[in-house]
Amino acid sequence: MKAIKLLTTALIVSLFLSACHSNTSDETTREDDNMNNEAASTEATTANATKGITQKDWGNANGKPVHLFTLTNANGVQVSISDYGGTITSFVAPDKTGKKESIVLGFNNISGYLAHPPYFGATVGRYGNRIAKGKFTLNGQTYTLATNDGQNHLHGGNVGFDKVVWTAGAINANNPQLSLSYLSKDNEEGYPGNLNTTVTFTLTDDNALRIDYNATTDKATPLNLTNHSYFNLSGDVNNTILNDWLMIDADRYTPVDSTLIPTGQLAPVKGTPFDFTTPHQIGERIAHVPGGYDHNFVLNKKDTSLTLAAQVTDSSSGRKLQVYTTQPGIQFYTGNFLNGSIKTDEGKPINKHTAFCLETQHFPNSPNTPSFPTSILQPGQTYHYVTEYRVSTIK
Ligand code: GLA
Repeated sequence: MKAIKLLTTALIVSLFLSACHSNTSDETTREDDNMNNEAASTEATTANATKGITQKDWGNANGKPVHLFTLTNANGVQVSISDYGGTITSFVAPDKTGKKESIVLGFNNISGYLAHPPYFGATVGRYGNRIAKGKFTLNGQTYTLATNDGQNHLHGGNVGFDKVVWTAGAINANNPQLSLSYLSKDNEEGYPGNLNTTVTFTLTDDNALRIDYNATTDKATPLNLTNHSYFNLSGDVNNTILNDWLMIDADRYTPVDSTLIPTGQLAPVKGTPFDFTTPHQIGERIAHVPGGYDHNFVLNKKDTSLTLAAQVTDSSSGRKLQVYTTQPGIQFYTGNFLNGSIKTDEGKPINKHTAFCLETQHFPNSPNTPSFPTSILQPGQTYHYVTEYRVSTIK
């Protein structure tokens, strides 16, 4: 009897002790997370650098659970992507000394995204970029979309693909690849047709993040999917991107009106601040571009093969980014609307020109500009295009 009593007491005491212990360690982890998110993510990066994909719970959005997936290749390059908005939250790449830092703007917690930063890392749709006055006519019917950018429609409307929860496909722990799917219902945000979209992210061992976009529809619809990552190759928003060297393989661009809608012209870049056919520093001529760069470039390509569209190098970190695409255009945006009101997890203000976007796309306002390549997906067709972001270093 005595022995049983003793045993029970010992059991209760040890249960109590272990409960206390796990509480303490939980709290410590949470506290550390809150105090230093940046450090936590860097730690995760180095601790977890086995080739493959990991998944973690990442809270809730729109009443649904969301997740964060981290893809790692054989060289330890890592890309994290959330099923909320199909958002790239970090892209960790080495500089010329081997130091790994994220080269995109992003947050470690879902709360950063629920505050709706301007499309940081998001998958944008149904129509990336602008549709004039939120109207277009297709097969004799006029459709009206949200005007969420002054008088124009921008990036899919009030609740674009950047603000919905996507469904992740099965993952294979050893393969750094993630597929996200989203069914956009007929009339969602005013667009026609049930549109089934799958976006597949693959991190290759030659340090390319490849994005495959696929979609089908049951009614003709405009479609222009893109990714809206904001890059700062130095890994630190205290540095602007104005000294970065940029090449865009485009002899022409699409000039815009005061509301950023293309005039319909394909204007030569030669002799203008838009000539990046040979590398120029982003800041060299930006003062001559009112508001900064926010323009679509007409890529020099004859077909839809995967070709180099743009290249950026940051001499100080030695990081180089190359953008390959099968698309006809690319939007070059210099973070003109960033104004310091959004802060990084470390509390650094994200100021104007501290990041650039290179959004591969069809030309803005194509649904209202018959002379531009068509952006209409027909029922029975499969939309498929590819963009790759390749990272490397220079000496
Ligand atoms: C795109 C647009 C810009 C701006 C950003 C988001 O790149 O072209 O004008 O709206 O998205 O702020």
